Amino acid sequence: MSTSDKTRKLRSAEWFGRQDSYGFIYRSWMKNQGHPAEMFQGKPVIGICNTWSDLTPCNGHLRALAEHVKRGVYAAGGFPVEFPVMSLGESNMRPTTMLFRNLASMDVEASIRANPLDAVVLLVGCDKTTPASLMGAASVDLPTIVVSGGPMLSGRWKGKPIGSGTDVIRFKEAVRAGSMSVDEFMASEAAMSRSAGSCMTMGTASTMASICEGLGIALPENGAIPAVDARRQAFAFASGRRAVEMVWEDLRMSKILTRAAFLNAVRLNAALGGSTNAVVHLLALAGRLGVEFSLDDWDAAGRDIPCLVNLMPSGQYLMEDFFHAGGVPSVLGEIAGRLEADALTVTGRSIGESHVSPEVHDRNVIFPLDAPFKPAGGIAVLRGNLAPGGAVIKPSAATPRLMQHSGPAIVFDDADDLKARIDDPDLPIDENTVLVLRNCGPKGYPGMAEIGNLPIPRRMLEKGVLDMVRISDARMSGTAFGTVVLHVAPESAAGGPLALVRDGDIITLDVAARRLHLEVDEAELEARRQALEPFVSPYTRGWEKLYVEHVQQADTGADLDFLVGGSGDYVPRVSH
Ligand code: FES
Ligand code: MG
Repeated sequence: MSTSDKTRKLRSAEWFGRQDSYGFIYRSWMKNQGHPAEMFQGKPVIGICNTWSDLTPCNGHLRALAEHVKRGVYAAGGFPVEFPVMSLGESNMRPTTMLFRNLASMDVEASIRANPLDAVVLLVGCDKTTPASLMGAASVDLPTIVVSGGPMLSGRWKGKPIGSGTDVIRFKEAVRAGSMSVDEFMASEAAMSRSAGSCMTMGTASTMASICEGLGIALPENGAIPAVDARRQAFAFASGRRAVEMVWEDLRMSKILTRAAFLNAVRLNAALGGSTNAVVHLLALAGRLGVEFSLDDWDAAGRDIPCLVNLMPSGQYLMEDFFHAGGVPSVLGEIAGRLEADALTVTGRSIGESHVSPEVHDRNVIFPLDAPFKPAGGIAVLRGNLAPGGAVIKPSAATPRLMQHSGPAIVFDDADDLKARIDDPDLPIDENTVLVLRNCGPKGYPGMAEIGNLPIPRRMLEKGVLDMVRISDARMSGTAFGTVVLHVAPESAAGGPLALVRDGDIITLDVAARRLHLEVDEAELEARRQALEPFVSPYTRGWEKLYVEHVQQADTGADLDFLVGGSGDYVPRVSH
């Protein structure tokens, strides 16, 4: 339980509480917006860090939602100030939003630290906006609370539910297999995205919004309340109110985001069948806070937690169904015995006291722990001579019979090679072939694009083969599925052994044994290593150059080396 002290000196008083010319400037210029001094003097100033953008459709409603946060801040005696930060729209940005996650985090960090803020509400939604905002805020470490925009209403087409992303992939393959016309394909677009909000499958956005509950950095129900449900607005109000109280309690991010919180998030992710992207995001976030939390913790903490939630892409339902079934509090209730129940949350109370519900309203959507939806939850971390730093696979989205598999490799050298040759009728492939894609990691792509779920070659689709083992240093969309080994570290562009694989080499995947092995002897691999041309990035200026030079590998979260850690909230100098 955190304790409130309303005599606490406010950080914002360093600006607005001064009697000198600086205080004059800080106050006078704020007054041009019509705020009388009593609005902000001596009151907690709550920054609303808004990732709204017309170009991030999933966050398009966040300005309206910010108004409800403001009401909550006013109601609790605080002063809300909304500010924009770089937004990352998954559907529009090229080459991949992940290239800009760390850049956006720098914007968030600088915007928070440089300004007269006592606490921050992070308004987020689309995939990367959540980790980018959390990472930036963590490096400042003010009291911080997350408000997600919420998922879209369920898609529905020709009488059947359709899910963001997941059904794009299914429809795309149906078109390639000839079972769906291009006209039908295009007609389904409007039916998929029919309201404000983020993807309504358990993709990365819903995973990260849900995980914010598991981390204790958002109030209960952050994950699943639909974007357009009035309860999302009431939720935003309650969060704004709570941000003010957190100032008086000095309830900073670092008090909430402890190792225990991260372990809880991993367990929740397993129960949700959550996105593999959560792996890199939480590792990077922990790095900002100096919390001891590694790739192996992902495997160890999530290993005995089965998948309880029957949502696309692992299952059949959508976020709206999940909300009505009880949402994240009900899932946390199911796994309550496996949680670090004492972990502190933004409520000022422990996760066990404030974030867990004993009720489940729909057992088709949320299964009990003793009779789970799928036995294999979690993220399996694979190692071997092909991935000395580790690689990940999501067993709940994979084909059980492929989880132990040996087969000959077909190697694609990069994304362009993949596009050019995947449907080549002369490729020597069958259903046992292992598809390998390289030069798509953090440095190689650059930005570790979501192309690790390589398309199944058309010839195989026509034969009715819907899944094959695929291995890469890329990521995949949280809405994707298949027996897909991702995040191979080190990546090929950093000299990792993925660069050494040749067509026909036998690769063994054994998920139960956590093994990924290239069946080529060490002497031969060393000879290939000697012959390898070093990777040269074509990017010679700007953000891309800085990124490629400083990005770390996926096994530690793909943050930039110089962004790891934090600098706190202190600013030594004034501006004039
Ligand atoms: Fe924004 Fe999926 S594209 S959440
Ligand atoms: Mg996504």
